[in-house]
Amino acid sequence: MTLVHGTEIFAAARKGHYAVGAFNTNNLEWTRAILSAAQEKNVPVLIQTSMGAAKYMGGYELCQQLIAAEMKSMAITVPVIIHLDHGNYEAAKEAIAAGYNSVMFDGHDLPFAENLAKTKEIVELAHAKGISVEAEVGSIGGEEDGVVGEGELADVNEAKQLAATGIDFLAAGIGNIHGQYPANWKGLHFDRLQELADAISIPLVLHGGSGIPQDQVEKAISMGVAKLNINTECQLAFAKATREYILANKDQEGKGYDPRKLLAPGTQAIKDTVEEIIGWMGTRPIKLVPEEL
Ligand code: 13P
Repeated sequence: MTLVHGTEIFAAARKGHYAVGAFNTNNLEWTRAILSAAQEKNVPVLIQTSMGAAKYMGGYELCQQLIAAEMKSMAITVPVIIHLDHGNYEAAKEAIAAGYNSVMFDGHDLPFAENLAKTKEIVELAHAKGISVEAEVGSIGGEEDGVVGEGELADVNEAKQLAATGIDFLAAGIGNIHGQYPANWKGLHFDRLQELADAISIPLVLHGGSGIPQDQVEKAISMGVAKLNINTECQLAFAKATREYILANKDQEGKGYDPRKLLAPGTQAIKDTVEEIIGWMGTRPIKLVPEEL
């Protein structure tokens, strides 16, 4: 089992101009689909839980143990990072205590001085245990599991100050949005991304990855994005496959209502989606001598 911390993986990704996928999980099926896709592609992967998903699943400890146990039973050999997505201060501390390998402290809704001070505190706590930390500057538009952002563009000076706290990667608002993009979306702000990439050398994180045209994601990766967050795309794929199964009356045939059958097409659809995205974002296998965690 190769649970790892993030630093080495992301440094290699930014240097090699590719990204590593961070996929949100919601349950056992989601977890299995993400793990098996990464294993099949032979690449590192992040499995992340939002605060809402962790609450739904039964808490951070349960999430950590479920993912680790799945890895063991599936004989996963690729490097896996269990990551907290958009955690507040308390959630970041809880996830650190529960054994996550990486946490995002999202202080975008705090006054900047407080975001900076709390990020510093989380970095100290996390790094003492070798856990990597992501912070946020500006904000991601839209809403994810109750975390709402206005989509303010990241301020370069603030980004530099956050990077100086020792964080391992930085999520920056560059016009990206959680959830589905509106038809009149103007696209990513590459000028701002370039300024950020010139100003700081740590890997950048592109949130709201679902629905951004592939050429824009590829360009962002070439400019310094090394972590691509995907949630909605898997949700849509799961819902579509499940809907098709039910509309084709397959739940009415024989024991088609058996949850193991009912959830199978959706689970397969998540796996296919993750594999497809991993394929085009160029993630490469990484040879790590992982610390056994
Ligand atoms: P999407 O749901 O838009 O893919 O965003 C995922 C994300 O950024 C998780 O933090």
